[in-house]
Amino acid sequence: MRINKYIAHSGICSRRKAEELIAQKKVMINGEVVESLSTVVDAKDIVVVDGKKIEPEKNKIYLMLNKPSGYISAVSDDKGRKTVLDIIKPHYDERIYPVGRLDFDTEGLLILTNDGEFANKLIHPSSNISKTYYVELDQPLTMKSIFNLESGVVIDGYKTKKCRIKKIGKGTSTTKCLITIEEGKNRQVRKMFETQRLRVKYLKRLQIGELYLGDLEKGKFRPLTKKEIKYLMSIN
Ligand code: URA
Repeated sequence: MRINKYIAHSGICSRRKAEELIAQKKVMINGEVVESLSTVVDAKDIVVVDGKKIEPEKNKIYLMLNKPSGYISAVSDDKGRKTVLDIIKPHYDERIYPVGRLDFDTEGLLILTNDGEFANKLIHPSSNISKTYYVELDQPLTMKSIFNLESGVVIDGYKTKKCRIKKIGKGTSTTKCLITIEEGKNRQVRKMFETQRLRVKYLKRLQIGELYLGDLEKGKFRPLTKKEIKYLMSIN
């Protein structure tokens, strides 16, 4: 296997990043610095990147979790809060991590994997993958606010792209909706509604592209099916 692919398969970075590391002479095979991107490695070679020995992940894991509120989407937390890995780790020895993130107080669909290349592809802005959230607000959602949000609003000096909002329930008093966005800035949904003086009281991700949370219970996880993995790999 080519050295850049081997490094990417280990889950530490993308193939592109591996090429950069090789160019920076940070990769060694059996004690010798790798000079060429076309260098090939096999199972008996010892590969060291930035002073650390790496091994390709043999067993690729792809999971979906229904993240409960009160967990952070990271592998560890310096403030000692619970992380989504606290739910997963007792069941797997592999080095699994979340793909993208949901806020501490957001619930719903989170993908986890040990496949670095898969994760990098999915979170790259060019993937443009849509995400659908169920939202509960502190006040009724007006047609004006829907129009503003769908056209794009400015958060942190950035104009959000067009998005789709579907009110849940009839009449003018509804405080519930679905919002579909194609980007993922920090706390984007909460900040978008704040521009309309609306506070998000409850937020849950239901869908990533055509991947659905379905009836997976809160705090539970399951492996993605072959079809789901194939679908996610086909994006971009
Ligand atoms: N938007 C938010 O505001 N929070 C999330 O967790 C995800 C999207």
